Amino acid sequence: MAAPHRFRAPRRGVRFKVMPGSLRFRLPAVFLLGIVIAGLVSALIAVQLVSAYTRNQSYDELSREARGIARLYSDAALRAAEEGTPAPDFAPGALELATGDQLFYVGAPAFPGQDSGLDRIPESAVPAPVLSSNAPLRFRFRPPGTTQTYLAVSQPLRLEKDGPVLGAILVAKRQDVVRDQWAPLVGRLAAAFAIGGLLAWVLGVWLSRRISAPVEALAKASDEIARGNYAVHVPVGRGGDEISHLSERFNEMAARLAATEERERQFLMSVSHELRTPLTAIRGHVDALRDGLIDDPQLVGASLEVVANEATRLERLVGDVLDLAKLRAHRFTVQTEEVDMGRLVEHAYGSFGDEARRREIDYELVEPVAAPTIITDGDRVLQVITNLLKNAFRWTPDGGSIDVVLAAANGTVRVDVVDTGPGIPPEDVQRIFSPFVSRDTQGTGLGLPIAQELAAALGGRVEVDTEPGRGSRFRLVLPARGA
Ligand SMILES: Nc1ncnc2c1ncn2[C@@H]1O[C@H](COP(=O)(O)OP(=O)(O)O)[C@@H](O)[C@H]1O
Ligand SMILES: [Mg+2]
Repeated sequence: MAAPHRFRAPRRGVRFKVMPGSLRFRLPAVFLLGIVIAGLVSALIAVQLVSAYTRNQSYDELSREARGIARLYSDAALRAAEEGTPAPDFAPGALELATGDQLFYVGAPAFPGQDSGLDRIPESAVPAPVLSSNAPLRFRFRPPGTTQTYLAVSQPLRLEKDGPVLGAILVAKRQDVVRDQWAPLVGRLAAAFAIGGLLAWVLGVWLSRRISAPVEALAKASDEIARGNYAVHVPVGRGGDEISHLSERFNEMAARLAATEERERQFLMSVSHELRTPLTAIRGHVDALRDGLIDDPQLVGASLEVVANEATRLERLVGDVLDLAKLRAHRFTVQTEEVDMGRLVEHAYGSFGDEARRREIDYELVEPVAAPTIITDGDRVLQVITNLLKNAFRWTPDGGSIDVVLAAANGTVRVDVVDTGPGIPPEDVQRIFSPFVSRDTQGTGLGLPIAQELAAALGGRVEVDTEPGRGSRFRLVLPARGA
């Protein structure tokens, strides 16, 4: 047999191209897609959280500033009202505001007739509750004369503790300034995302190669098997995973197919050889008779006898070969019927009675009191027992003994054929069940193989217990599926 062809993991693109439909593409693609989706979702959440956080931070800072300035402002206004001091300068530059923060004022002027430096904006520019609320408010608005949106905090202004709200101090910050604080994060996230995606792709490609290489090896080996070449072998990974299990089973399957093919080939060769032997003999005798080489009537008679015998042998051989071939191809219909094993064994036993008497063989049948009835194929069972009996009578010398024993035990029914023949040497015991193995010049060597295949077809088996010089015990074991 040729050395099995080994399928190595193919290098990239050797035969299985990395095509959109291939495992090699789909695995890393799915991997990458998963990473991209997970990355996008978490980036989105991160951006949202950070932007909300920076916005809140900005609002808090604006609130602090608004509160401080409002206190300053109301103190100054009180003092101006009580002592007539001039309005202080509230121009943003004079106050310690955070860079870029702007100061506005809405409502009634606290220093009538004086300019406090505050940038007064009309009430319509801010949301309505700013002037009616007693508490600070946070909101977004667009001061008149600008195109920018501002985040703002309004702090209501009172001159006395529980007095009416006079107006409101607004501290505001441009929204894009706030956005600039977290915008770099997006860039960094995008970079991390790209690196992550790249790593995912590399990992995915590596992983997919590990997974798809053995699959591709299997696919190629399957192609070979489909082409009829069973001498293949795929490498089995050490992982003990599903794929190495598959590879292992695949190799077993290929080996079995190869063995079956080899067996069939051997069988065919043996069959043709076995058929040719009697044909050659017939041909030789017929040629001699036709050419008039034999003229002695006695020799002619002997020749014709040989021809007739060989023809009979051919007939038997062809019948047996067909039986065996059918059995092996499982093209074999097994009848299921109630079979009284007692009667069946008696029948088989009875057909060898004359020969036993003639050859003075001590021939006995041993049966249990209540013979079992089983569901099986009676004709086939009879064929097996007859084959075993034929062999026993073939090999037992005159005056010997042959016993047929029927017994039922442990869910099985067994029929033993015990003889006092020469027995079989241990090295031959396995071989005698192979086709065409025979020490009998008249035999075909198919009796036991057929018996064994028949027994298997009936769910049973044929066992043998033999010792050279002490005889043999052939046993048919059948499942005792009750009637
Ligand atoms: N009862 C037996 N005692 C001794 N040898 C046996 C017995 N039965 C079978 N054998 C051996 O097994 C061989 C194969 O038997 P079988 O398959 O029935 O073919 P065949 O009877 O045509 O030779 C026989 O040739 C014989 O050598
Ligand atoms: Mg035989």
